[in-house]
Amino acid sequence: MNIVIVNGSPRANSRTKKLNQILLNKYDLNYVDLSELHIPFFDGTDEQKGNIHVVKWMDTIEHADAVIFTTPEYHGGMSGLLKNATDFLGSKQLMDKPVAIIATAGGGKGGINALNNLRIVLRSLYANVIAKQIVIDPIDFISDESNLSNEILLSIDEIINQLKKQVNVEKMLV
Ligand SMILES: Cc1cc2nc3c(=O)[nH]c(=O)nc-3n(C[C@H](O)[C@H](O)[C@H](O)COP(=O)(O)O)c2cc1C
Repeated sequence: MNIVIVNGSPRANSRTKKLNQILLNKYDLNYVDLSELHIPFFDGTDEQKGNIHVVKWMDTIEHADAVIFTTPEYHGGMSGLLKNATDFLGSKQLMDKPVAIIATAGGGKGGINALNNLRIVLRSLYANVIAKQIVIDPIDFISDESNLSNEILLSIDEIINQLKKQVNVEKMLV
């Protein structure tokens, strides 16, 4: 099963990126690191559709069975990097696709804003965003930020299992 995880943080020393690394070590996932893809600012021109980074991004999401979008919360919303990347997507890439969302926050009770923001954007792309979602605060990282607390790992297990279940349901419906 092709489950793709997307890092939506632009920061070099990002906790969202560390979260992605932890999950890549633990699960069989494919990876898109938006901080390393050079996706231009969306301008709606046909030229951008041939940009190799844009093509790679759109193809990766289109061919995924399920996607986990991870975003930092920046000023009460998802990252600009991730929002710009979603502007290149459409229902062709995401219609009915099982999707999970995880936010990394600063620890001041944020994160839910980014999740709500991202959920609305994905809904408008007709993605099948599962109800379970996670906010990860700095305190949830352990072992020098190379791992996550058991509580968070259990929640992530649940999310992966729900995505797999949804993918199987979608396959039965086709
Ligand atoms: C520009 C900026 C704005 C931020 N705004 C918020 C916020 O509104 N709420 C919050 O919980 N954390 C906020 N943070 C903290 C990040 O969520 C925190 O750094 C977290 O680790 C995720 O970001 P990262 O992946 O870039 O590390 C902000 C950080 C930056 C750099």
